[in-house]
Amino acid sequence: MIEKINNLKKEILDKLSEIKDSKALADLEVFYLGRKGEFTKILRDISNVVPEKRAAMGKAANQIKKEIQEKVNEFKMQFESKETQEGEEDITLPGVKFETGHLHPITQLQYEMEDLFTSMGFMTLSGPELESDYYNFEAINIPPYHPARDTQDTFYIDSKNKEGENDLVMRTHTSSVQVRAMQKHGAPLKAIVPGRVFRSEATDVRHEHTFYQVEGFVIDRDITFSHMKGILELVGKKLFGPETKIRMRPKYYPFVEPGSNGEYTCFLCHGKGCNLCKKTGWLEILGSGMIHPNVLRAGGIDPDEYQGYAFGFGLNRLAQLRYKTDDVRLFNSGDLKFIKQF
Ligand code: PHE
Repeated sequence: MIEKINNLKKEILDKLSEIKDSKALADLEVFYLGRKGEFTKILRDISNVVPEKRAAMGKAANQIKKEIQEKVNEFKMQFESKETQEGEEDITLPGVKFETGHLHPITQLQYEMEDLFTSMGFMTLSGPELESDYYNFEAINIPPYHPARDTQDTFYIDSKNKEGENDLVMRTHTSSVQVRAMQKHGAPLKAIVPGRVFRSEATDVRHEHTFYQVEGFVIDRDITFSHMKGILELVGKKLFGPETKIRMRPKYYPFVEPGSNGEYTCFLCHGKGCNLCKKTGWLEILGSGMIHPNVLRAGGIDPDEYQGYAFGFGLNRLAQLRYKTDDVRLFNSGDLKFIKQF
């Protein structure tokens, strides 16, 4: 019996010397020393040995088992230290970059505008995206059936008011917050309203159904068009550089009188004319004008006492110009390849 045990010991030690990794070692351990292992079976057989010899044999067998187990443990430790060494990081390799997200380019621009305007004493306000027909159109001098509604067709929500009219729309511009702000804060008032707006557009590279604006308005005594021009010129210099000039030409919006657009000298060609500005030297960036008396009245402000100006920037247009993107729809696309560039 002892011979059998010694043979098995030799067999195990031979196999051990050939083993190359901890997985094979673990397998070997189970095969010989596990609960149903070869060596364990022999130990169990000792109970059949005649009682006189049993104790001595058991002792010898356990001694051999201990030796084998020690050998196995020794190998185990060797493999473990070798394997952790191999698994250790090579600190000369370039590190793994942690991916952190960043603000969407439109949001970056929006924050920039907010910083600029709050530094000039403007409040930042917001209003609902799902807006009443009243605040989006009627209150700002766009009555039902006014042709100006055609240029701002939007998504109407299927909910009727007492008169049976559809009276909820996705707001078509941030001008919807003008009268809300007047009603809430009264005059004098100096605020900007950044926000998301919606139009029923056949989309193309310059038109999106969902986009962003920054509205601004100032209401106080003795406010004139030149105050507005001064502020807007400053914004242009801040956005496109100190050389930037502004030009304002008449443009019709029902809620301002007089109304004007706002064009900045093209920051790419500095007014010489290039593809970006379609050879004009100017980029049209905003709508603006003196707030119409009807709008002030709707906001509970007496137009004989107060005047005001209002303007609206298209943030997508600004972003498109700044980053020279060729398709405005990319901003809403959720395409990470695009977004990660900013
Ligand atoms: N609301 C106008 C638009 O979306 C922009 C505008 C704002 C024009 C304020 C004049 C005054 O086109």
